[in-house]
Amino acid sequence: MSCVEKPQLRMVWPQRLINQPPEVETPVGYEIRHYRSDDEQCFYEVMRLAVWPGWDAQRLDYSLSRIIPNGWFMAVEEQAKTVVGTAMCLHNCTGSLLFWGDLAWLACDPAHTGRGLGLALSAAVTSRFIEAGYRKIGLHTEYYRLPAIKIYLKLGFLPMLKSGDAIDLWRGVCQKLDWPLTPKAWATGLAPNNVLQTTSESTLNGSSEASEG
Ligand SMILES: CC(C)(COP(=O)(O)OP(=O)(O)OC[C@H]1O[C@@H](n2cnc3c(N)ncnc32)[C@H](O)[C@@H]1OP(=O)(O)O)[C@@H](O)C(=O)NCCC(=O)NCCS
Repeated sequence: MSCVEKPQLRMVWPQRLINQPPEVETPVGYEIRHYRSDDEQCFYEVMRLAVWPGWDAQRLDYSLSRIIPNGWFMAVEEQAKTVVGTAMCLHNCTGSLLFWGDLAWLACDPAHTGRGLGLALSAAVTSRFIEAGYRKIGLHTEYYRLPAIKIYLKLGFLPMLKSGDAIDLWRGVCQKLDWPLTPKAWATGLAPNNVLQTTSESTLNGSSEASEG
């Protein structure tokens, strides 16, 4: 099976943190600011450099209709005044996630990665959703996007496990990131009002449960 055939991973901001916006710690030499009306070309370039060539006005249209006010962030290198990173707050991004806000299109120019910009942009998006009153905040990603997944886990997003596939993928991710695989704690953290979920826990966890702290 190739990479693209594997299901996307879903991560969700836990209810216990729904009133606790993460701090945006901007790396020295950079600024995190809102979108300005002439940022589009820089955005396309960052997307191309990051991993997604082919962005244009037509492709952007779908996201533009879903970005919440003050919900499109740019990381700017202060000296050169160049946009080097981006992330968006998208409302109901798939059309079937009613009232959900999704952290989307996180990307950074590879010349500027590894300095905390991805973390700062993700924190900015999450904080903006909380400030805007969202009670359901999530994101989709792929199992091989390890730098992004590490950021999301560090911020406090929890993996949502819906299928056996998901736990297998998460087992691999956690191994590579040296991150604890704790499906029971994840499910508890994502349950409404943090009520312990017991359903299908054993199917999801398999023997990995022994590693949960
Ligand atoms: C995701 C992305 C924006 C991260 O940008 P960044 O500015 O490097 O992010 P940060 O510096 O804040 O954090 C990256 C973290 O990943 C870690 N990391 C980097 N490469 C890694 C790898 N191959 N495996 C595991 N962890 C890795 C870094 O060490 C860092 O963690 P640390 O701060 O605990 O050391 C950037 O990698 C990117 O544009 N990727 C391509 C697009 C993409 O995948 N977007 C996400 C879509 S869901």
